[in-house]
Amino acid sequence: GKGAPLAGLRALVTSGPTYEAIDPVRFIGNRSSGKQGHAIATALARAGAAVTLVCGPVALPDPAGVKVVRIESAREMLAACESALPADIAVFAAAVADWRVAQEAPQKIKKPAEGGAAPTLSFAENPDILASIAGLKQGRPALVIGFAAETEKVAEHAAAKRARKGCDWILANDVSAGTGTFGGDANTIHLVTENGTEDWPRLTKQQVAERLAARIGDHFGKKTT
Ligand code: PMT
Repeated sequence: GKGAPLAGLRALVTSGPTYEAIDPVRFIGNRSSGKQGHAIATALARAGAAVTLVCGPVALPDPAGVKVVRIESAREMLAACESALPADIAVFAAAVADWRVAQEAPQKIKKPAEGGAAPTLSFAENPDILASIAGLKQGRPALVIGFAAETEKVAEHAAAKRARKGCDWILANDVSAGTGTFGGDANTIHLVTENGTEDWPRLTKQQVAERLAARIGDHFGKKTT
């Protein structure tokens, strides 16, 4: 019906940061709060989709009516996403660490005696979850949507990212200093599709989520008529 345009569809959403362990007590993370991804999971569920939300460590409550899978690292996020398939719609709003610490120390790294050398870390590349799922030969979700966090030439870099990662749509957001996009309540989106770029006005993250859910509804509505 009209109130449930996504009824019968399954959606996977990622949200929040990943934590990459240095040792048992320390990690490398980022400032994603999960607000944008959680709002998208909520909006898709309210539009009638069956939603699985795979999220990193966030301080937010679980959205109502959504299956939530909590993970910490990028590798755990990929495994949880693969387990959540099949899905018709996948939206990757998480801020995934591109790199993890190559050798997680099994014990807490001790401060050396005075004058001792500072520790150094080396890194290994993490899997790209969006690119992995967008590139599936079998069981690829029909509509794969990524985000692009950019600090300059936002729409241009996002269009390149859309091609490189093989997704259908990209929501590009400006995350440069002073925008407050990471952690804040508002977002300015440029939606990049095969038809070009659409500039959205500055909206709350909830409004971004509702507008995206409506666009997804239009997309599937058109395809089935
Ligand atoms: O959580 P909030 O505080 O509400 O902030 C929202 C947000 C700014 C985090 C969000 O809107 C956003 O932009 N998320 C993507 C952040 C990001 O890591 O962008 P990216 O340009 O590095 O990555 C591009 C895309 O690839 C993203 O869809 C990302 O989820 C995905 N990716 C990236 C690296 C990786 N190893 N795996 C991925 O799946």
